Amino acid sequence: MKPYFIQFSFYYEHELDKKGRIYRKVINSMSLAAIILCAGNGTRMNSDLPKVLHKLAGFPLIHHVMNTAQELGVSKTVIVVGKDSDKVSKAAFDFNDDVIIEKQDKQLGTGHAVQKAMPALKNSYDDVIILYGDVPFITPTTIKKMLTVKKEGSDLVVLGFESSQPSAYGRIVTMGDKIEKIVEAKDASDVELQIKSCNSGVILTNSKNLMQLVKLLNNNNTSKEYYLTDIVAIANSQNQKCSLLLCSETETLGINTRHELAYAENLFQKRTREKFLDIGVTLASPETIIFSMDTVIGRDTFVGQNVVFEPGVSIETGAIIKPFCHLESCHIGSCAEIGPFAHIRPGTEIGNSARIGNFVETKNAKVGEFSKINHLSYVGDTITGQKVNIGAGTITCNYDGFSKHLTIIEDGAFIGSNSSLVAPIKIEQNSIIAAGSVITKNVPKNSLSIARSDQKNLLGRAKEIMRKLKKIKTTTEKANR
Ligand code: UD1
Ligand code: MG
Repeated sequence: MKPYFIQFSFYYEHELDKKGRIYRKVINSMSLAAIILCAGNGTRMNSDLPKVLHKLAGFPLIHHVMNTAQELGVSKTVIVVGKDSDKVSKAAFDFNDDVIIEKQDKQLGTGHAVQKAMPALKNSYDDVIILYGDVPFITPTTIKKMLTVKKEGSDLVVLGFESSQPSAYGRIVTMGDKIEKIVEAKDASDVELQIKSCNSGVILTNSKNLMQLVKLLNNNNTSKEYYLTDIVAIANSQNQKCSLLLCSETETLGINTRHELAYAENLFQKRTREKFLDIGVTLASPETIIFSMDTVIGRDTFVGQNVVFEPGVSIETGAIIKPFCHLESCHIGSCAEIGPFAHIRPGTEIGNSARIGNFVETKNAKVGEFSKINHLSYVGDTITGQKVNIGAGTITCNYDGFSKHLTIIEDGAFIGSNSSLVAPIKIEQNSIIAAGSVITKNVPKNSLSIARSDQKNLLGRAKEIMRKLKKIKTTTEKANR
């Protein structure tokens, strides 16, 4: 059931609860809504994947734009989706399940897409910001500047940028400090194509105005599309004040091709490296380190060459991440040391001052403070206490082909090299597992557990075997001559 909205004058929304009672919901004082256009075909990406699901810094483009809307504190977000609506809707709900999805069955243009979004907003919002799902770098700070320009007396504000190579971007035709119209490159005259002011796609007005403007759009243009950009000329014809706010070209980068996606990725990485250097993180060879949109790293952390941060990684202060580590959805405690060549997989939590060495893989593993897994181990679905030592080549056998099982290793336990811990299993406090053991039963605290075949020493037998082998080799060589 769709909620029944009644808009009152002082920025409160009223909704009916399940029993039909009206209650007041306090919303943002600015009554700000966002429309994110994501229905375009993205033909220029040459891909089966919808354009807004292509990843930038580990997250789909649509998440970058939703993140901007969230940081702005919008009270309602409407996302317009197209032919792959299920996939795009799922990605949108993964980020925020409180958005409204509207479907645009035929991609008849950006103006048509906004028409589809309007019933969800009606006349209810003082400010509606239109964002494009393929323009990921617009910052909340810039949009706040647009809100200020509107508050100072504009009916409509367009975000533009100056470009020395405007190529396919819409050109902004100005008249003094006002915008007269936006002309799409395909429809522009030779003179208009010389204009360096370009349209970012981001437009701000109120929902009542937007609703009446998009109703007046037509598709008399080269592409036979309903261009959102035409609302500027229509607003001017109604004597509305249309203003332009300029920001940097890199902020308004639109992604229409894989080349632009690669360029945007490089740009993101460059900026993020600079951000971390500024906040006191040492990057050994910054250009070789790859970050995600949400990477969090504390001060005085060291990151070596060729480290990759997949989504969901947070690292506390003073940690050392040595070269060639791959980290995914994990938390690294303060002053912990990781790598080189460690693979820290989702669900790993490394405690303060713990040590994960080379060729160690962890997954869904909690490693307690001061514990060590120094070499060549797989530790998965495991809870490890403090000051545990896991020897080289230890494997937690967590999977039986059907289900995953838990290994618990309590404080102070010592796991000898090349041990296999067959889960579910519990190794209690301060116990010792002898090297090369295959442990299938729980180990009580303070115990020594040995689970390997006994060693026999047959005195003099080596000499005898060697003599025999030498004789066989000599006979075979003679026969082959
Ligand atoms: C658009 C602008 C152009 C601007 C550029 C900035 C128009 C007409 N042109 O051009 O002035 O310089 O962005 O990057 O607006 N979409 C829909 N439904 C549609 C068509 C598009 O939802 O029917 C969505 C797309 O998914 C995309 C956004 O709208 O996220 C922009 O569409 P796109 O085709 O990329 O427009 P551009 O040619 O880049
Ligand atoms: Mg585009």
